[in-house]
Amino acid sequence: MKISGTTQLACLLGHPVSHSFSPYIHNYLAEKCGLDMRYVCFDVEDEQVEAAVKGIRALGIVGSNVTIPYKIKVMDYLDEIDPNAAIIGAVNTIKNENGKLIGYNTDGVGFVKSVIEAGHTLKGKTVMVLGAGGASRAITVELAAAGVKKLLICNNTLAKAEQLSAQIKEHFAEVSIQIGLLNITEADLQGVDFLINTTPVGMSKQKALCPINETIQPPKGLVVCDIVYTPHDTKLLLWAKVNGLQVVHGIGMLINQAVHSFYLWTGKEVAAYEDILALLVEQG
Ligand code: ATR
Repeated sequence: MKISGTTQLACLLGHPVSHSFSPYIHNYLAEKCGLDMRYVCFDVEDEQVEAAVKGIRALGIVGSNVTIPYKIKVMDYLDEIDPNAAIIGAVNTIKNENGKLIGYNTDGVGFVKSVIEAGHTLKGKTVMVLGAGGASRAITVELAAAGVKKLLICNNTLAKAEQLSAQIKEHFAEVSIQIGLLNITEADLQGVDFLINTTPVGMSKQKALCPINETIQPPKGLVVCDIVYTPHDTKLLLWAKVNGLQVVHGIGMLINQAVHSFYLWTGKEVAAYEDILALLVEQG
């Protein structure tokens, strides 16, 4: 597709941004939908974040993704925040609606979609989440919104799990929540339908590590999800597979958070999981 005088722009704001997969995904989606739109990455210095966000409005950029370390900071410069993004306390997507900048968080939505696309149902289920950081916040809020019955939030720093639990309870009173430490036992997993790792344990340099003790025998029917996507099969997912369990790979959340951002900007809902997966594998 050619760039012309009518080409629209979407972008990523962050620091650093050079390793982002988002340009591959969004430019692919724009082309697939026949949209005259391009997506580029902007590496923004901390003191320029406000100007960069205002630039979205000034330049008529259709929307932006926001990545580390600005997911919280950008919220100060937006006109409106989506209710779930406000509970999460972070924004990864900005939509420019005729000059009004609205902040969303598509990370948790993307995760939930990846579980549903794998053929599972979350409504009424018991879910154990490992970690209570930013990713956990995004995921647990969307799990609550998706109607899970019970959340077990496990983290080394108990105070963070407690804080997250209190916030979810405030907004989703119908969800039962328990907190605990990360030293999960076989007994802890009884009655759990989904186990989700949101910690970086198992990622790249820590790829030999597993967030739970691999000698544990999991209950039958447990679905194990990891948001770590490098490596594709983490130690946790390998443990699940060895025990005959179904898994949900972290790449699904990465793809679906992008697909949902694209939907917010363009109104186009694209089912392109396999194509994007192939594209990302090609990019390494
Ligand atoms: P992100 O935004 O990617 O979620 P984060 O906000 O730094 O990153 O949160 C990382 C989460 O993984 C936290 O829950 C953190 O635990 P603490 O709250 O106790 O710090 C957890 N985490 C990070 N490294 C860990 C490790 N080596 N073992 C267990 N938990 C870890």
